[in-house]
Amino acid sequence: MFYGGLGVPESLSKLQRRYDDREFDVTDRSLHLVIETEDKIIGQMSLNNDENLPSRAATFGILIGAGYLGQGYGAEASGLLLNYAFAVLGYHKVNLDLFEYNVRARAMYEKLGFVHEGRRRENHWSRGRFWDDILMGITAEEWWAKHGLPPQPEIGRERG
Ligand SMILES: CC(C)(COP(=O)(O)OP(=O)(O)OC[C@H]1O[C@@H](n2cnc3c(N)ncnc32)[C@H](O)[C@@H]1OP(=O)(O)O)[C@@H](O)C(=O)NCCC(=O)NCCS
Repeated sequence: MFYGGLGVPESLSKLQRRYDDREFDVTDRSLHLVIETEDKIIGQMSLNNDENLPSRAATFGILIGAGYLGQGYGAEASGLLLNYAFAVLGYHKVNLDLFEYNVRARAMYEKLGFVHEGRRRENHWSRGRFWDDILMGITAEEWWAKHGLPPQPEIGRERG
């Protein structure tokens, strides 16, 4: 499973089995979603809130399957879930971790407006050496400043 952006990805067929078995959690505190296009599962993403309500902070993670990378799916799916996180679930902050060599993910997160917040040094062993984890995050204010406010409710407005 691919929680919080770090971990070992699953194959798409395994993902399909988990989805068919309804293994994905859709409670507000732990959202695990599959990403579908034309009835085909191409990836998954998650939004976890392990903290208490006053912090209103969540951890985001995403995986697009091989064969579907670099076609805009990651940015589009992330945008949809982050809009939902800020506008509907009312989060104040979304955080994530990534391995320092993950250039593609970092570029996408920066494009979405995530800010570099720090690094957890030599926390990950891969390819014969230790690597840092990069910590990134975005506040609701930063998200709306970059992507525009969500549609406002009609309540109280005069009808023309
Ligand atoms: C990171 C990931 C989710 C991005 O999804 P994607 O569908 O491949 O990315 P998109 O096509 O939506 O591209 C979004 C942006 O990412 C960056 N990007 C995409 N492919 C890239 C590449 N090969 N090299 C560098 N940057 C790249 C670009 O900034 C791109 O924007 P642009 O096309 O306007 O230039 C996807 O690559 C993935 O699942 N990787 C494996 C798992 C992973 O690393 N998850 C994140 C860990 S925290």
